[in-house]
Amino acid sequence: MAGMTEPSAGAPPVLPPTDDLDEVERRLASTSLLEAMTTQRAVRRVLPDPVDERIVRRLVEVALEAPTGSNGQNWEFVVVTEQATKEALGRQYARAWKVYGGLGRRMRTDEQTRRILRSVEWQVEHFTEIPVLVVCCLRGGANLPFLPVPSIAASSHYGSVYPSVQNLLLAARAVGLGGSLITLPLWSATVARRLLGLPFTVEPCCVVPLGWAKGRYGPKARKPVDEVLHRGRYGETLT
Ligand SMILES: Cc1cc2nc3c(=O)[nH]c(=O)nc-3n(C[C@H](O)[C@H](O)[C@H](O)COP(=O)(O)O)c2cc1C
Repeated sequence: MAGMTEPSAGAPPVLPPTDDLDEVERRLASTSLLEAMTTQRAVRRVLPDPVDERIVRRLVEVALEAPTGSNGQNWEFVVVTEQATKEALGRQYARAWKVYGGLGRRMRTDEQTRRILRSVEWQVEHFTEIPVLVVCCLRGGANLPFLPVPSIAASSHYGSVYPSVQNLLLAARAVGLGGSLITLPLWSATVARRLLGLPFTVEPCCVVPLGWAKGRYGPKARKPVDEVLHRGRYGETLT
């Protein structure tokens, strides 16, 4: 592929920034599903170089191939590039991270956790330099007022945004954009609503910061499949 930079040993190649939509389509078409799924991860360290809005639009278009409950398609995506909004969301993130990160540092001290903490710290500190934030939202609520609803109501509601978010992350990975799924900048939904001008019927669910990936994607740590796979009843192994 044109313009590919040298990968670090064992890591997938890091693609250089581009604003050429044909190149973006080539990258989308030439990345296999397996490659995207196995190499996609939380890439928080990104370059400050601008990301063409047409690329973000295309990625969201691909994200919309995802399923939603009853095919309601009640998703909304707000693309944030304005400095003042990034600053305000960044302040929310820093506030939430002070609590959450502090707990993480006290509860787990293994090297893998320390690496994640350092990566999140980078993102919190450089939040306003990240070129694009995509705020993924849902219309309608998880609960009907005054009606007892089963827990699948919440599951079906929030489950109507996350498949599209994963599509967005996979597509970002394919084109060489670093992305991550984060929720802490939405610590206060009220503040986020006000900043983004969201009506009360639209709930901000998560943020996907996007920028051209800096450095390598690196290996990721996942549990072995047999640890979480059961046959018929919980605890029965499949193989
Ligand atoms: C629902 C959800 C919320 C998350 N919120 C945050 C967040 O606020 N900040 C952050 O840095 N990462 C957040 N993450 C990212 C996880 O930390 C990340 O996916 C996990 O550490 C695995 O990373 P890896 O794919 O690079 O191995 C969130 C992930 C999920 C699924």
